[in-house]
Amino acid sequence: MHRLTNKQIILGITGGIAAYKSAELTRLLKAAGADVRVVMTSAATEFITPLTLQALSGNPVHRHLLDTEAEAGMGHIELAKWADLVLIAPSSANFMARLASGLGDDLLTTLCLATDAPICLAPAMNQAMWRDASTQRNVEQLSARGIRLFGPGVGEQACGDTGAGRMLEPTELAQLAANCFHSGCLSGKTVFITAGPTREPLDPVRYLSNHSSGKMGYALAQAAIDAGARVRLISGPVTLTPPARVECVQVETAEQMLAASIRDIEHCDIFIAAAAVADYRPTAVAEHKIKKGSEEIMELHLVKNPDIVASVASHTHRPYTVGFAAETRDLLTYARDKLERKKLDLVIANDVSRQEIGFGSDENAVTLVCRNNDTPLPQTSKRQLAVKLIEEIARRASADQETVADF
Ligand code: C5P
Repeated sequence: MHRLTNKQIILGITGGIAAYKSAELTRLLKAAGADVRVVMTSAATEFITPLTLQALSGNPVHRHLLDTEAEAGMGHIELAKWADLVLIAPSSANFMARLASGLGDDLLTTLCLATDAPICLAPAMNQAMWRDASTQRNVEQLSARGIRLFGPGVGEQACGDTGAGRMLEPTELAQLAANCFHSGCLSGKTVFITAGPTREPLDPVRYLSNHSSGKMGYALAQAAIDAGARVRLISGPVTLTPPARVECVQVETAEQMLAASIRDIEHCDIFIAAAAVADYRPTAVAEHKIKKGSEEIMELHLVKNPDIVASVASHTHRPYTVGFAAETRDLLTYARDKLERKKLDLVIANDVSRQEIGFGSDENAVTLVCRNNDTPLPQTSKRQLAVKLIEEIARRASADQETVADF
């Protein structure tokens, strides 16, 4: 169940007797390493107390849409963006009807409308209510919208009836939630990802660097692991913790990053260059701290750094190679130029002049630029975007390899 490690899960609880099992589900998700935030409808609080779920999740329970205090803490949009997965267990017939008709009349329905994360429902209701034509129509509609259904199970019900409508057991639900994080689209593949800034030393205490946080590269590494890949993350100095199960190589300079990128490159299937590599480094590193002199102007002599992604792309055993283009103007022109000049297969272009996306921000919006076309991906959290990017890259890389195999 390591797939749940560090995953951010919203557990929605609606009104039904199975709500008592949500306490155990919360405990299991937490034990598997997930960060759980519980959102309850008012009917749910008739069956189980928020205090129980607060104690088990270790987070405050969210209940109201129009609550100024809650909105000031973590409002419905923030919650929607925070989630890697929204799991609603139990999901009542009434809740499914409201979701199917697109209502946003409480916190849980609103955040379902606002989230880009996958939504999963664990239906729980009387067997006759489950069989009812309206419920079945809602199920069909929700499935068509990509909302996943876990269950329901068949068996004895709290009301004494027997049939379909039982909520699945917490262990089954936790396992199904974990499976959501394994698309398998990179099974058996090896992916190298560069991330963060490089530091180019001037003397023993100073260096040239940039503001890259490494968030995008680290999110890509996590998404690639979740997709079944073996991942080497070649990281400049950042404050992030590497995802579990990646081989993380910590580097400082561009030259070190190049060495760690090229090593075993013949075993790499996909290379993603998300690092913000310093273009130049000081020609020489002073042995001792450079002292302040009397002169007003100081000249630094810099030499060009190797281009890591271009070196990888020109290797004899080149992997499918992806670069980033962070630009403040003429985004697509520069991205296309990089694609051709560095001989890349794909460029992920993002406009860093926009404050709400890019460096340091938790969100990003990008355009995928390849030889034949441009595909925009809308603004979303870097974690969600990373999942979409990895799916796209996996699809394109395997199509590319098939084409190569054809010749
Ligand atoms: O040339 P520019 O820095 O704009 O290109 C950005 C892309 O090239 C990014 O994918 C970055 O990781 C990669 N790059 C590199 N080595 C360099 C400079 C950039 O791999 N020296």
